[in-house]
Amino acid sequence: MKIQPSDTPLLQWAGDTLAIGLFEDAVELTDELAKLDEQFGGVLKELIAEEEFTAKAYSTIFTRVRSASPIRKVILVGLGKLEALKLETLRRAAAAVARVAKKQKSISLGLSFPLWNNQSDATAQALTEGVQLALHQDLRFKSEPEEKETKLQTLDLLGLSGQEAAITLANHIVSGVILTRELVAAPANEVTPITLAETAQGMATEHGIDVKILEREECEKLGMGAFLGVAQASDLPPKFIHLTYKPEGTARRKLAIIGKGLTFDSGGLNIKGAGSGIETMKMDMGGAGAILGAAKAIAQIKPDVEVHFISAATENMISGHAMHPGDILKASNGKTIEVNNTDAEGRLTLADALVYADKLGVDAVVDLATLTGACIIALGDDIAGLYTPDDALASELEQAAETAGEKLWRMPMEEKYFEGLKSGIADMKNTGPRAGGSITAALFLKQFIKDTPWAHLDVAGPVWTDKENGYNSPGATGYGVRTLVNWVLAA
Ligand code: BES
Ligand code: MN
Ligand code: ZN
Repeated sequence: MKIQPSDTPLLQWAGDTLAIGLFEDAVELTDELAKLDEQFGGVLKELIAEEEFTAKAYSTIFTRVRSASPIRKVILVGLGKLEALKLETLRRAAAAVARVAKKQKSISLGLSFPLWNNQSDATAQALTEGVQLALHQDLRFKSEPEEKETKLQTLDLLGLSGQEAAITLANHIVSGVILTRELVAAPANEVTPITLAETAQGMATEHGIDVKILEREECEKLGMGAFLGVAQASDLPPKFIHLTYKPEGTARRKLAIIGKGLTFDSGGLNIKGAGSGIETMKMDMGGAGAILGAAKAIAQIKPDVEVHFISAATENMISGHAMHPGDILKASNGKTIEVNNTDAEGRLTLADALVYADKLGVDAVVDLATLTGACIIALGDDIAGLYTPDDALASELEQAAETAGEKLWRMPMEEKYFEGLKSGIADMKNTGPRAGGSITAALFLKQFIKDTPWAHLDVAGPVWTDKENGYNSPGATGYGVRTLVNWVLAA
């Protein structure tokens, strides 16, 4: 699909489907739209006057029109109340329009939307993201797709002339989100640690960035006993992935982002029981998916920030050589861990990834992990838990997430709860009591970072959705990519 800014006046615009964003309470056509509506015989005015359409956020109404203008279809979309307008409102409204346009087999769509905060660039970016993300559909595993591909060929952003750069930026970001969605949605027999490593290598070749894959032997040499303890039951080789994007000139800032990369989580010998959602545990590499998607976007955007993308990729399996509950592992910082539950494997893999990242001499480390069911209980499916001892980093991430429309909420790092991880025999256990399970997981991770400012995002909920939700469709959402990219760009 070709997306272009357009300064063609509405009355001369020559596409087949026009979508108009309107505010609730004072649903009014601009003078230009009113003139166009006269050509349509006043059908839009009528819809509004008869309150068929009240512009509640994301509500849509579709009507066919006939006039001298080539426009044949009109979609009105609600933006809610003017004073509550956010970038995310535009993104979701654009997504709602895209879904209608697809259903109505539109070929050329024009969006006539008000600006957010008088900012043409942010508006163009949000509209592009909303449409592209809503239209992405994953038909890779259907032999005969019953769902039809969209017929949409062009998208005109009306009144947003000159915003080519914002559209390009949005397209780079969307390409990253789609890569993430496809990695996360693919089953564990398709996306393995090997696939993740190959994806990183392919990206390095394509975009000219550095890649290093540490094989098992190298991880052994580095003393990554926690990561390798998890990996030991799998028939597949573990892959420690390290991609590096370096700007051409000097970097303003150096950052590392880590993603939990469990391509399947059976629970290990503490196997996941009925109702645990074991069949969706292919998404336990949602963090790794997000950092690879972010890498793809950043390699194209080329900011003057150095970024390291890291994932200790493996799967948590069962076999005669699986780790036993009660085994003691030694992480690469020398700390010993009594594995009282093999299903708390993510934190074991992250422990060694954090120690590795901490040694890079970066200004901040952020990890994303589908770490705990407890975080979903606390915050629900849509909101990630943000854990960090660092207030400045917390507000950077909160700002980045707000702009992205990805929800996160800062959680407390209650040091006292670390008592729950005390072990009689080793330095710590890997799990504490059920209560506060997402907090103790974060406190566990903190043991593996020395002085680098660090934040942990527990993304167990938002990487996956069962329902259609804005620009997300059932399945993988690609959560995290847009927040990470915003964070890097704002650094
Ligand atoms: N990958 C899971 C967490 C998870 C659960 C992600 C549901 C997405 C949806 C993680 O490895 C895990 O099993 N965590 C355990 C920890 C427990 C053993 C302390 C959990 O949350 O039950
Ligand atoms: Mn687990
Ligand atoms: Zn897991």
